[in-house]
Amino acid sequence: MSKLQVKLNNIYQFVDASDVLSLKNKVNDCQKLIEGKTGKGNDFLGWVTLPAEITDDQLKSIEKVANELRSKSEFVVVVGIGGSYLGAKAVIEALGNSFSMLDNGGTKVLFAGNSICEDYHAELLKLLDKHTYSIVVISKSGTTTEPAIAFRLLKQHLEGKVGKTEAASRIVAITDQSKGALRKLADTEGYRTFVIPDDVGGRYSVLTPVGLLPIAIAGFDIRQMVEGARQAMTDTSVGVPFEQNPACQYAAARNVLYAMGKKVEIMVNYTPKLHYVTEWWKQLYGESEGKENKGIFPAGVDFTTDLHSMGQYIQEGERFIFETVVSVEKPSHTLNIPNDPENLDQLNFLTGKRLSEVNHMAELGTIVAHNDGGVPCIQITIPELSAFWIGYLLYFFERACAISGYVLDVNPFDQPGVEAYKKNMFALLGKPGFEDEGKALRKRLGI
Ligand code: PA5
Repeated sequence: MSKLQVKLNNIYQFVDASDVLSLKNKVNDCQKLIEGKTGKGNDFLGWVTLPAEITDDQLKSIEKVANELRSKSEFVVVVGIGGSYLGAKAVIEALGNSFSMLDNGGTKVLFAGNSICEDYHAELLKLLDKHTYSIVVISKSGTTTEPAIAFRLLKQHLEGKVGKTEAASRIVAITDQSKGALRKLADTEGYRTFVIPDDVGGRYSVLTPVGLLPIAIAGFDIRQMVEGARQAMTDTSVGVPFEQNPACQYAAARNVLYAMGKKVEIMVNYTPKLHYVTEWWKQLYGESEGKENKGIFPAGVDFTTDLHSMGQYIQEGERFIFETVVSVEKPSHTLNIPNDPENLDQLNFLTGKRLSEVNHMAELGTIVAHNDGGVPCIQITIPELSAFWIGYLLYFFERACAISGYVLDVNPFDQPGVEAYKKNMFALLGKPGFEDEGKALRKRLGI
């Protein structure tokens, strides 16, 4: 039977199977905190049962708006940052054709407001001058600076291009039910809106309209994705014994490695299509665990590409690393290596082999090499890159993240540390009320 598998064989050179098992009771307690909603941050546990609660009507209304925006736009610009963009970006990149941006057909999803880069946004507006487009603006708080700035630019641009009334019909806001500047603006301007549930935090929101609307606009099957997440919810629930529960196994293994000094977890993929799944995972784990001077530092590499850059460090640098390798069993295409009569590259022994076989052997060879170099490797395998398995994988990671956070005894659902840079940025920019802080910062920075 096809399933997501967590294999721990390649950590057992470094820790004993009994070490992982020793966390069983702790992990099971954490599972109870999650399902009983009795742990830290328990007002943000809406994501746990979300896959089972999404209704057909909700999916239909997302699909309806997606189809409508698709029918009148060459581009849909998704404005958001952090959890308000990474889930959609991860799924669209994982499921899409690597060159879909160069196709003529179909609506393309672009992203904005995930940086304050002047050149990126100027270039985006220049592109949009020549094309039809719509906007999906996403912010749970409705007050985040980066998307708010991008939305100001895009709103003015679209209104200038098609007029205020038509622009309003091309803008969809995804935000809080009743609070925040974006809710107020959407209500004033008459934008269509979708709601981010109160009890679902940004980085756990990919299965709300935050992820589902952009993914549907990009043309992917959100019903299959939700179906996959539903299956993961069943397979990782509190009733599934520790030994058979992939989320418990992963959470326990990474915490055992952390306790022995492996403080950096590098997520490894062997397909660039998973690059943004890693970015999404980095946000999920980094913001959920990195607090109170604790937490595994989540990093990411794309192999074999980065074997030619980060490979040297991983093999022989400081020994505080472990890897989590995410593999996809079955590629979507078939490509065999051709024979070359000249054989100057001496690679004719590969003639007829599929690229995926070479990639797989690179993966296995690397795991052994890194093990030999002192790097434990957790392996996570999914059968294929389909909407179902991506939905499954994302829910699995969410569940394992919540368990891990509770094992660490932190609140996995807040992010108090994110405020520090904002306060300084506003003070430096002269926000009224922050004059003294601004002066002190300028002195400190010598500006
Ligand atoms: O996980 C989180 O809550 C954050 O990373 C948010 O997603 C991010 O800061 C964006 O916030 P908002 O959706 O309120 O604009």
